[in-house]
Amino acid sequence: MTIAIRPETPADHAAIYDITKRAFAPMPYSDGDEQDLIDRLRNASALAISLVAEQDGAVVGQVTFTEAFAADGSDGWYALGPVAVEPELQSRKIGAQLIEAGIALLCERGAAGCVLVGNPAYYGRFGFKPFPELCPKGEPTESFQILPLGVAGPSAVISFHPLFHSDQQ
Ligand SMILES: CC(C)(COP(=O)(O)OP(=O)(O)OC[C@H]1O[C@@H](n2cnc3c(N)ncnc32)[C@H](O)[C@@H]1OP(=O)(O)O)[C@@H](O)C(=O)NCCC(=O)NCCS
Repeated sequence: MTIAIRPETPADHAAIYDITKRAFAPMPYSDGDEQDLIDRLRNASALAISLVAEQDGAVVGQVTFTEAFAADGSDGWYALGPVAVEPELQSRKIGAQLIEAGIALLCERGAAGCVLVGNPAYYGRFGFKPFPELCPKGEPTESFQILPLGVAGPSAVISFHPLFHSDQQ
């Protein structure tokens, strides 16, 4: 099956919500809020990049990138996530295609790098490396990773968009 990766359109919003909810539901690390987080980010115009994977005219996956904030004021940092693929279609490299397309767009934008919280066993294949010393307060240090993309590597704590923590305020 051919997969097309493209930016989201308003017609995709309901499918993104549905896939994200069902993909995260069985995950022990899910807080059950990922689908609503994407909507909150979109409503705040904070979706820096949202790509969908389309197969036979249907959305089967989505990846979100938002702006991230370095404590030293350096620009060009982004965060990856949530990312989700239709449960029945997982492990067919759809997630990999979404992530690689997003990283390519970050490179085109001249990004300094990308951070995320996730399993290093998965994200290591895209070049993400653990950076526990630069993990923002409140995030799991063992899962915090950075993909450096610029000439200057990361040297300060890099925080996620405040909406990632709006449920804790
Ligand atoms: C994570 C996800 C987007 C990856 O998409 P995908 O299309 O299934 O991924 P790919 O086909 O590119 O890669 C599949 C591989 O990743 C592994 N993998 C997927 N999620 C993983 C995770 N959270 N931790 C470790 N490995 C993971 C699979 O076991 C598989 O391994 P293999 O290549 O050795 O067989 C998808 O599995 C998903 O929607 N999961 C539920 C939501 C979720 O956990 N999102 C990420 C939160 S950090």
